[in-house]
Amino acid sequence: MIRIKVPATTANIGPGFDALGLALDIFQEIEVSREAIGTAKVSWAGEIQVPDDENYVLKALEYAYARVDYEKPGYHITMFPSQIPVSRGLGSSAAAIVSGLYAANFLLDYPFSKQELLEMASALEGHPDNVAPAIFGNLVLSTASELKTHYAVIPFPEDLVLKVFVPDFKLSTALARGALPAKYDRKDCIANLSRVGLLVHALMSKDYDNLTMALEDQIHEPYRYPLIEDGTVLKSAVKTTEAFGLFISGAGPTLIALLRKEDMTFDAKLKLNELPLKHHWECFTIAVNKSGAFYEPIK
Ligand code: HSE
Repeated sequence: MIRIKVPATTANIGPGFDALGLALDIFQEIEVSREAIGTAKVSWAGEIQVPDDENYVLKALEYAYARVDYEKPGYHITMFPSQIPVSRGLGSSAAAIVSGLYAANFLLDYPFSKQELLEMASALEGHPDNVAPAIFGNLVLSTASELKTHYAVIPFPEDLVLKVFVPDFKLSTALARGALPAKYDRKDCIANLSRVGLLVHALMSKDYDNLTMALEDQIHEPYRYPLIEDGTVLKSAVKTTEAFGLFISGAGPTLIALLRKEDMTFDAKLKLNELPLKHHWECFTIAVNKSGAFYEPIK
């Protein structure tokens, strides 16, 4: 038996739409044991959160099983209550997919490399920006060609922290993707291209002079803020603090502020409880996950 832990992720980080993602230190956790051929058992430690036919862990496991032509062992999977809020833009589906693929890899005696796991996860999710940091940890820049998903892992600077704002409402990724235009103006594409370059440079060099501007986006955020009630109130409030900026986490509705670790003034300047918000927003500091998905032996 083995335990698999897969981190939450935040995609885009402003201008890096469908290309940049960052792993966060909260996890989806499952336990897996090998059983007799033909056994496919799922139990929940706690309440059942999704029926088996909607469970991405099982879909991903079966997807990986279909890739090998030898006899596959049966399994018993125990699902633990996920620490990752669902439908909030924190990569809960990516974490479930990666958990299922890691489970299959364990059950089949590790036939798949990390690159192959990435290709499968990317195919199941439709884009690599959440699944890549869920596998590798840290900040990951990725792009898929017809042949291969290319990626680069960038260590996230130790002197920055993230303040996460999770609202009490959900936003479907399909709806948030559907709100985007089919075509863009050249000036918006150029704005994003240059900003994502400056963003990666700032994070790699720890020179933050351009970081506020480098977090701005023209490709998805202007179309998604109207779907996130209170979003613009929080955006304006974060501008009154010393934070570098606020970005939509993935497709939303979670918002994330990026600030210096040494900045002790953020909460006092933001005054979250005094803002004219219609919803309850939970705000907490989150650490960047450095490890990506991993196996933990159970004694
Ligand atoms: N990059 C994706 C998006 C992440 O913003 O739509 C959500 O799956």
